[in-house]
Amino acid sequence: MQFSHEEYLGDLNNFRYAVKRFDASKKISDSDWHILEESLRLSPSSYGLQPWKFLIVQNTNLREQLKTVSWGQTQVTDCSQYVVFTTLKSLDEKYVDQFIHTIAQTRGVDASSLKGYRDAIVGDVVTGPRSGIAQAWTQRQAYIAMGNLMTTAAMMHIDTCPMEGLDPAAYDRILGLEKSPYATVAACAVGYRHAEDKYQFAKKVRFKRDQVIEVR
Ligand SMILES: Cc1cc2nc3c(=O)[nH]c(=O)nc-3n(C[C@H](O)[C@H](O)[C@H](O)COP(=O)(O)O)c2cc1C
Repeated sequence: MQFSHEEYLGDLNNFRYAVKRFDASKKISDSDWHILEESLRLSPSSYGLQPWKFLIVQNTNLREQLKTVSWGQTQVTDCSQYVVFTTLKSLDEKYVDQFIHTIAQTRGVDASSLKGYRDAIVGDVVTGPRSGIAQAWTQRQAYIAMGNLMTTAAMMHIDTCPMEGLDPAAYDRILGLEKSPYATVAACAVGYRHAEDKYQFAKKVRFKRDQVIEVR
């Protein structure tokens, strides 16, 4: 059967909902998970800086500990893969240079040809106007990756729950991040909905088009 874009995307956006109860017996296959990991890794970020690390927490004991600092939400322990989004607490020239080196290597160009780009980045987020909000800026990037993960999962009919109902400082402590350059932002549970999760039958609550979309 052939589907139109409208039918496919309508179905996609209605399929996805924030799962409250996962079926702990259902696990994502390795090949599907690989695609989802790639949706994280290939996500866009400002300047392409990728100021993130995605922690896939599979250890049962760690998950139990994280649940206690996530309002006791069962998604943490019952999902198939639990992704914790962490981002850099600050940005420095060393990190930007490492990124520039990666571009040079990947595209087979001399790093010196990227000096203008390098200086523009440093002059903005390391020493310039946005240096004062560097962590807030890196955190914004994480949400783009989270959106990408959720949409890709929905396309594969895999379920998710974005999670901000958690204590980031406690996550950092449990995951041993306190002395690392990274800090927790949010998380996303990925897996399969429980047949009895009542939220899958609830009507979507959204403002009307003209309340949220304006053409000027
Ligand atoms: C950044 C973010 C954080 C969220 N945190 C939680 C959470 O901790 N627990 C939860 O059950 N739902 C959480 N949600 C889900 C929202 O409540 C849900 O997306 C919203 O009510 C719309 O419903 P729908 O996603 O089912 O369409 C979060 C959503 C977002 C985007």
